[in-house]
Amino acid sequence: MRRLLFAANWKMHLAPADARAYLQNFLPAYAARTDRDVWFFPPAISLEAVSHAIARRPDLRSGVQDVYWEPKGAFTGAVSAPLAVQTGAGAALIGHSERRHVFGETDGDTQKKVAAVAAAGLVPVLCVGELLAERDAGKTLAVVSRQLEGALTDLPAAALATVVVAYEPVWAIGTGRNATPADAAAVHRHIRQWLRARGQAVPRVLYGGSVNLKNIADLLAEDELDGVLVGGASLDPAGWAQLVQTTAR
Ligand code: 13P
Repeated sequence: MRRLLFAANWKMHLAPADARAYLQNFLPAYAARTDRDVWFFPPAISLEAVSHAIARRPDLRSGVQDVYWEPKGAFTGAVSAPLAVQTGAGAALIGHSERRHVFGETDGDTQKKVAAVAAAGLVPVLCVGELLAERDAGKTLAVVSRQLEGALTDLPAAALATVVVAYEPVWAIGTGRNATPADAAAVHRHIRQWLRARGQAVPRVLYGGSVNLKNIADLLAEDELDGVLVGGASLDPAGWAQLVQTTAR
């Protein structure tokens, strides 16, 4: 069985002091398990605090929520992959739906970001997912394929081998309306086939969108899910500690 990955996307929450207090609560509540990893994506300003707090826990990892593709320079407000590495980050979210739909990020942007992240040695976690109108029009797989092609075509095989994909239907993010395990599985199967066809031997595909303590067991019962990417339900350390200990399958 593939190793499960529970990823917490804190979005624009938890400043450094809040992050330290969170981990003081979380760490004693969650002992490492051999079958899963837990990753935290704090705001960039809190990355160093998180990396420091989890330094003795190899099962835990920090990651950056977004990067700009240039390594350094006059790009006010931006964070590059090499800068994130220096904060202890080991991964990067790319193309999250809020980056695409609030900040206007394109497939071309995601391609440059994935390449920059992989070149810096971070694990790219590429987020894909359709809008409600696209789902209703039967275009889910076409949209997801376009996003995969846009971000991953031309990526060297060694870099492609490290990519994790998170399927996050936009209509399920922060809405309390999650995809059913069967809905998610159909898209995961498609993503996995896409990656396998391009040579990734062990594709890992996460589901995200209104994952919480009530639905996590049903979602993880679905073999196509290798884990979850969680926003709101990851912000409370006690709840998150409980969620990441959910027994799967
Ligand atoms: P919610 O879990 O709050 O729906 O957010 C999902 C998400 O966007 C994680 O990246």
